[in-house]
Amino acid sequence: MSKTILVTGGAGYIGSHTVVALLERGHRVVIADNLANSSRLAVDAAGRLGGGEVAFHQIDLTEDGSLAEVFDSHPVEAAIHFAGLKAVGESVEKPLDYYRTNLISTMNLLREMQAHGVWDLVFSSSATVYGDPDVLPIPESAATGPTNPYGRTKLMIEDICRDVAAADDRWRISLLRYFNPVGAHSSGELGEDPRGIPNNLVPYVMQVAVGRRDKLQVYGDDWDTPDGSGVRDYIHVLDLAEGHLAALDHLEAGCDVFNLGTGTGSSVFEIIDTAERVSGRSVPYDVIGRRSGDIATSLADPSKANHELGWRADRNLEVMLTDAWTWQSSHPMGFGDDD
Ligand code: NAD
Ligand code: UD1
Repeated sequence: MSKTILVTGGAGYIGSHTVVALLERGHRVVIADNLANSSRLAVDAAGRLGGGEVAFHQIDLTEDGSLAEVFDSHPVEAAIHFAGLKAVGESVEKPLDYYRTNLISTMNLLREMQAHGVWDLVFSSSATVYGDPDVLPIPESAATGPTNPYGRTKLMIEDICRDVAAADDRWRISLLRYFNPVGAHSSGELGEDPRGIPNNLVPYVMQVAVGRRDKLQVYGDDWDTPDGSGVRDYIHVLDLAEGHLAALDHLEAGCDVFNLGTGTGSSVFEIIDTAERVSGRSVPYDVIGRRSGDIATSLADPSKANHELGWRADRNLEVMLTDAWTWQSSHPMGFGDDD
């Protein structure tokens, strides 16, 4: 059934790919984003690729009442909440910015939804809530223990969602803990466009391959992993986008949590090798010391989402990096409106 969905942060990396998936499914999309970390061009590209109309509101969700105009002008039936700050290192430097932006934005959204009788919500949480995991692969029941302010905002928001759902049984909330989203739309028209120096591995590797940066720094080759480099559960952003559609379709009263990952791990050296193969370019690197706060391995147990949402991530690493390269090689400077 086609619905009007509010997508906060819909101009961003994961949000814009999810907008394409929503439009392809016939939903109407309303984006609320202040473009703090994204481009208006991503909104246009998502609308084109999804073949639908997108309403765009450039607003700051931390501003009291900013969402009123959105709810007053569109018959919103559900929200997907991507908006927020996400850089771990920056969150350590500027914790108050992170607590303010991520928590206030969410509370403003929840209050506005409640005021308009909209009870269906899908929230972008993160595997970072598990901190250094004591069990691998990680099930949703594993202990949480984020190790930085960013991760703590995610866990606090999860708790807020659990509390509001416990207080009013009209709420239907799905908390999605993403593992490591990478890749791009296969058209090459939409992809990840980080501002400044990328914090994450795959965008950094792509910028080296395309010649925008000289060399990758590999954060340690002495981890307790098969080749000594860090292992992560990379998931194609289009599989992740489809996970949001599945979560929307399966919302139930209360608040539930799902891992979105593949259950397969890849090391930094495997990423470099695969990126070199699919791009035909070399990716020079130096091995340097470990990054503070890093862990050896992060790997999802995605079986709950597989069974209960009827969803599975099946694009492999080759597809992820091929699509990332198609985007990066056709847009060496991303959308080109930041630096
Ligand atoms: P992104 O930065 O590309 O997208 C976030 C969007 O939110 C941006 O378009 C930004 O402009 C917008 N935004 C930020 N503050 C805002 C505010 N005050 N008002 C309105 N809009 C605001 O990030 P992304 O990678 O697409 O991540 C989306 C969500 O998923 C985030 O909540 C992030 O924490 C979470 N997440 C991301 C990853 C990842 O690796 N990318 C992993 C786990 C969880
Ligand atoms: C980062 C975030 C985490 C977030 C996740 C998904 C940190 C400390 N953690 O984790 O909160 O949930 O992204 O968005 O930032 N690597 C290099 N060189 C680089 C970059 C990364 O060797 O220039 C290595 C890392 O040590 C790691 C792997 O590549 O082993 C992946 O790194 P990254 O993409 O930053 O993801 P996470 O470490 O999982």
